[in-house]
Amino acid sequence: MNAFDVKRVREDFPMLKKMMNGRHLIYLDTAATSQKPQSVIEAIEHFYREEYGTVHRAIYELAAHSTEMYSLVRGKVQQFIGASEEEEIVFTRGTTEAINLVAHAYGRTFLKECDEIIISEMEHHSNIIPWQLLAKEKGLKLKFIPMTLKGELRLDVFKELLSEKTKLVSIAHIANATGTINPVKEIISLAHEAGAKVLIDGAQAVSHLNVNVQELDVDFYAFSGHKMYGPTGVGVLYGKRELLQEMPPFIGGGDMVETVTLESATFQPPPLRFEAGTPSIAEVIGLGAAIDYIESLGRENIETWLSQLLTYATEKLLQISGLTIIGTAKEKGPIISFTFDDLHALDLGTLLGLKGIAIRTGHLCAQPALACFGLKALARISFGVYNTLSEIDHTVAAIQEGALLLKPELSY
Ligand SMILES: Cc1ncc(COP(=O)(O)O)c(C=O)c1O
Repeated sequence: MNAFDVKRVREDFPMLKKMMNGRHLIYLDTAATSQKPQSVIEAIEHFYREEYGTVHRAIYELAAHSTEMYSLVRGKVQQFIGASEEEEIVFTRGTTEAINLVAHAYGRTFLKECDEIIISEMEHHSNIIPWQLLAKEKGLKLKFIPMTLKGELRLDVFKELLSEKTKLVSIAHIANATGTINPVKEIISLAHEAGAKVLIDGAQAVSHLNVNVQELDVDFYAFSGHKMYGPTGVGVLYGKRELLQEMPPFIGGGDMVETVTLESATFQPPPLRFEAGTPSIAEVIGLGAAIDYIESLGRENIETWLSQLLTYATEKLLQISGLTIIGTAKEKGPIISFTFDDLHALDLGTLLGLKGIAIRTGHLCAQPALACFGLKALARISFGVYNTLSEIDHTVAAIQEGALLLKPELSY
């Protein structure tokens, strides 16, 4: 597909035909989880219906075929993010598990008392809690890059926080609350100069930015299938080969071992060392179909369309008096969070829900980020490939109507 034909794209998503409260669903919560195209649904269904078997464990044809398909997806992910080897791709249950894997297998092994980890104020809870737990267990110090009122990271402060004590830096590529696209290449290079390793949380980025882990020179990169038009229950941890090789297992069980006696075991090389137990086979197949789908649309086309939606919606929302956009960084992903004078985000979310418009409200799993703005809750709209300009018009009108209903003294 050359030009982005959103009308055609919408045909691929069965959920968009749904009626909600008598209206066509307007789905504006892709940052939480994306809707799924028919090709992904069919790939999973076909696998269960026609091809299902376990992986790695058996010699019969179905198992051999499943193993081959599962492994093919590893190669697909490698190409998708520009990794140099398939062995650098570890399948996880999602971004959260991928970050925890690094905290446990790398952090517990290589970090020692008084070492420092740097994260930022704008992180999702899943890029905060694993480090808090590790810091407590190992006596590490956790430091935070502050952000400006626009929601941009203070790189000047970051440079001051870095020292020979810094062992790990873990930052979101795109922040889920503010939409900020962080200058990860610069962050990685500054951290490396100080001798620290870097994990980038790519949950909000990988579906539309052209991520190349080798160009970034990132040590670890984590993302989830369900935010990139794929299924839940599957995600990826990319890790540089030499790092994964040094890391002990994260959890133990079948498939990740070479030899086992009652007293001890030897482990598979990565990535299998980190994939204990029967994996999410169908979900991995679905992830492969999601990558095919994204590639068929073209990541550049997707990015262009999403930034058009972002610009259009930002302009329209700013025309609503009393509405304040939280997160006004120069570089933003397709996410707009906002507050509305005296009108609680949850009330607004409920009203829009009644009109078939799905938006996210609450703390967005980023309580520290919201606290920087003195807030406890936000309303957030976020876009996927299927959203349209007219959906934005409808939503803006619904917000204005909702405001009038709840606050009749407002007038437009
Ligand atoms: C920036 C960011 N990191 C991590 C996560 C956690 O992803 P998951 O729940 O798929 O593990 C999210 C989910 O919203 C996110 O937006």
